[in-house]
Amino acid sequence: MKVFVLGGGGREHALGWKLAQSPKVNELFFLPGNAGTAKLGQNLAIAPAEGDAVADACKQGKPDLVVIGPEAPLFAGVSDRLAAQGFCVFGPSREAAMLEREKVFAKNFLRRHSISTAAFKTFNDAAAARRYVEGKDSGLVIKASGPALGKGVIVCANPAEALVAVDEMMVERKFGDAGNQVVVEERLEGEEVSIHVLTDGKHYVSFPPSQDHKPIGEGDTGLNTGGMGAYAPAPIVDAALAKKIDERIVQPVLKGLKKDGVDYRGALYIGLMITADGLKVLEFNCRFGDPETQPLMLLTDEDLFDLLVDTVKGNLTSRKVATRPGSALCVVAASGGYPGTYQKGATIKLDTEENADFVCFHAGTKEEDGELLTSGGRVLGVTSFAQSLKQAKERAYAPLDAKQIHFDGIYFRRDIGDKGIKRLEG
Ligand code: AMP
Ligand code: GLY
Repeated sequence: MKVFVLGGGGREHALGWKLAQSPKVNELFFLPGNAGTAKLGQNLAIAPAEGDAVADACKQGKPDLVVIGPEAPLFAGVSDRLAAQGFCVFGPSREAAMLEREKVFAKNFLRRHSISTAAFKTFNDAAAARRYVEGKDSGLVIKASGPALGKGVIVCANPAEALVAVDEMMVERKFGDAGNQVVVEERLEGEEVSIHVLTDGKHYVSFPPSQDHKPIGEGDTGLNTGGMGAYAPAPIVDAALAKKIDERIVQPVLKGLKKDGVDYRGALYIGLMITADGLKVLEFNCRFGDPETQPLMLLTDEDLFDLLVDTVKGNLTSRKVATRPGSALCVVAASGGYPGTYQKGATIKLDTEENADFVCFHAGTKEEDGELLTSGGRVLGVTSFAQSLKQAKERAYAPLDAKQIHFDGIYFRRDIGDKGIKRLEG
């Protein structure tokens, strides 16, 4: 079978790596891919959200499955378009992807279906938003409703900070049209978990709960990034909590979609905050998380090609995905300066042996004249599997500490997985 994977980050390398293990997959193409995916198949220099170019490539290449990694092609309706041409496309429709695209839509969905989330109010004009914020005396979160590349959320310690955020979004229009509507939310305290399911609109397959590390600095400090590391399973989710997540969040969300007449097929990522006051939904993503996918693929012990095709064709049964017993952890190695400005073009040294328990997934990399170079903010996702989370952490960090994996300006957090390890050690 021939598979096209749309996207070029660590998530797509991880999905491609897992797909390549399927005995059914013999040809892999990445649009546009990166230097890591080029070792698994062929990269095509096509931007995944450019519908015309993607449709042309599919017409020519006739893939048996198209896997959409990032959100931009979903928002651009690439899934609908390819499905209309008869392709087997993994990735929800444009309508279904509204859950991720518009935060106001997601919050109203949660309210309509009585699913627990942070208290909120939505605003179309700055004056009304300011008046509301001025009447508060606690921490607040200001969110641009539209797509803002993960940057449109500002967590504020007090109303004064929130007023600045409202002005940035609604007056200075820092996020353009994405800030035409804003959500003002109560600020929650707690630990976050990422819940991934595959659904075909009727049934769902659950992946183990995972944890991302969004801020750039150790101890979760500093600016938010795309994600600096992840691990799974997340020990904070014990069997009792897993049951609650299933019954109070996942099932009501899927029922709500059905009730609203949305045929959701694909990966659904539910970001949760575990608070003293119970579970609260933070956000939805209509795709796999990056970097959560990297550890999830090392844990998964079944054929990803079958899982994805069954999702598209409506052949899933509700169950947990088969996993290897153990833990997986990914440390993101980034270019110094990220998420602000950073340099590209540094030579990458990669002196490691890969196997089923250790993979260095590429994100912002490219090959030029036989040399491996940095080409983005998040460069590599050093990912390892082991019997315990502590061992997985040690294995992922060892080649970074030994500079077997290295480039000028390399930056990585040293505390990926520590929250989970601490919990396990009581
Ligand atoms: P979102 O894209 O809505 O998930 O927001 C991005 C990040 O901002 C989340 O992963 C949280 O770390 C943080 N965040 C969002 N909403 C809240 C909230 N109500 N309280 C505290 N932190 C939040
Ligand atoms: N890891 C967070 C995301 O993929 O949005």
